[in-house]
Amino acid sequence: MTDDVLLVHGGTPLEGEIHVRGAKNLVPKAMVAALLGSTPSRLRNVPDIRDVKVVRGLLELHGVTVRGGDVSGELLLDPTHVESATVADIDAHAGSSRIPILFCGPLLHRLGRAFIPGLGGCHIGDRPIDFHLEVLRHFGATVDKRPEGLYLEAPQRLRGAKIELPYPSVGTTEQVLLTAVMAEGTTELRNAAVEPEITDLICVLQKMGAIITMDTDRVIRITGVDRLEGYNHRAIPDRLEAASWACAALATGGNIYVRGAQQQPMMTFLNVFRKVGGAFEIDDDGIRFWHPGGALQAIALETDVAPGFQTDWQQPLVVALTQASGLSIVHETVYESRLGFTSALNQMGATIQLYRECLGGTPCRFGQRNFLHSAVISGPSKLQGAELVIPDLRGGFSYLIAALAAQGTSAVHGIDLINRGYENFMQKLADLGAHVEMGG
Ligand code: EPU
Repeated sequence: MTDDVLLVHGGTPLEGEIHVRGAKNLVPKAMVAALLGSTPSRLRNVPDIRDVKVVRGLLELHGVTVRGGDVSGELLLDPTHVESATVADIDAHAGSSRIPILFCGPLLHRLGRAFIPGLGGCHIGDRPIDFHLEVLRHFGATVDKRPEGLYLEAPQRLRGAKIELPYPSVGTTEQVLLTAVMAEGTTELRNAAVEPEITDLICVLQKMGAIITMDTDRVIRITGVDRLEGYNHRAIPDRLEAASWACAALATGGNIYVRGAQQQPMMTFLNVFRKVGGAFEIDDDGIRFWHPGGALQAIALETDVAPGFQTDWQQPLVVALTQASGLSIVHETVYESRLGFTSALNQMGATIQLYRECLGGTPCRFGQRNFLHSAVISGPSKLQGAELVIPDLRGGFSYLIAALAAQGTSAVHGIDLINRGYENFMQKLADLGAHVEMGG
């Protein structure tokens, strides 16, 4: 994409069919897992998104051969000749994504040391990595934090550990899994994240030869093994992308069949979608989402770790809630700063007020800490086109939805950021009848 401004002529319901492929929050991690194998891996249903390219680049720097398979969306990853990369080469990837932090365990197992560049990712909160470093030290790694990045070493083989997370962090749970599978002895992880993408990563690792049990009480136990093989795996579909398109259907009064969407990982979202007044129909190949006509209902909602309502669903849904009758309340409990995108919605005509208090049943980590992390949305509002600058991935997609639902034309700047996590979204918009064009 050469130009970064999208002109969106709103007011037309999105109608048609799109296809979602593998989950952005699983695929790059499964690619990292391939580093642990003694033989090549085959990953299927891989979307063409920026995070995949970043991880591919980093794997190739470390001697992994990565090539496309015979079928679209297939990646073949051969880790037979893993080698150290130079700090300068790795550093070229600084700020590109958060996934590089997950290279720690696999590189320590394969090479005894690792350099991790400065991380990127969306600015939706402070996003520290203190839990990650703490668990790596539990396994026996040494961590040297310098301005250019992290230097890690495993003076001896890493050892299994008993770990309890202060919060069920997705990334830290993945860090533990990718490290524990080849550590000596057993690891017990308490207060683990249990997102569907974590379960799918466990499936990948089990195919490789790992021994992992997942209890119902957020406890994961891993028995370390000496050797893992490559895997052949089809990534679970992107339930976050699917929900984004569902919200686009609702906010624009449209009707979208999301091929590839699955019911089970979206159950919590589907309940909320129905409470708001959205309609859906599930078949074996996907889910159809539509606005059935009539008024949408205001709701009270709290984001949470799985099996709760995912924080990544929150931003697109808030746009739909601007069209609901009455006062909706949203309490964001996962990230302290994931509601800042609402000021642009207000410029478009929405009425959204942010609060520092926890406006929900459960007091969260941010209630006493002065973060604007609750929202009251008063609707329905007529949205008008505006000049918008994309702040982060999901916020950016939400601006697209708002611009599509609005009357008039919006200029959406920084549109390229959406390529980080939404495959081929320009084509999908065209397939759904959106009136959009690249601006100058
Ligand atoms: N946290 C810490 N210290 C740490 C790690 C996390 O305090 O060392 C805190 C975070 O600041 C946050 C909370 O724990 O408040 C949850 O963070 P988590 O580690 O679960 O998030 P993540 O692994 O960095 C992944 C997804 C996010 C998604 C979250 C929650 C990827 C690449 N990213 O992030 O996805 O929101 O889990 O489900 O998997 C997105 O797709 O737009 C996105 C941001």
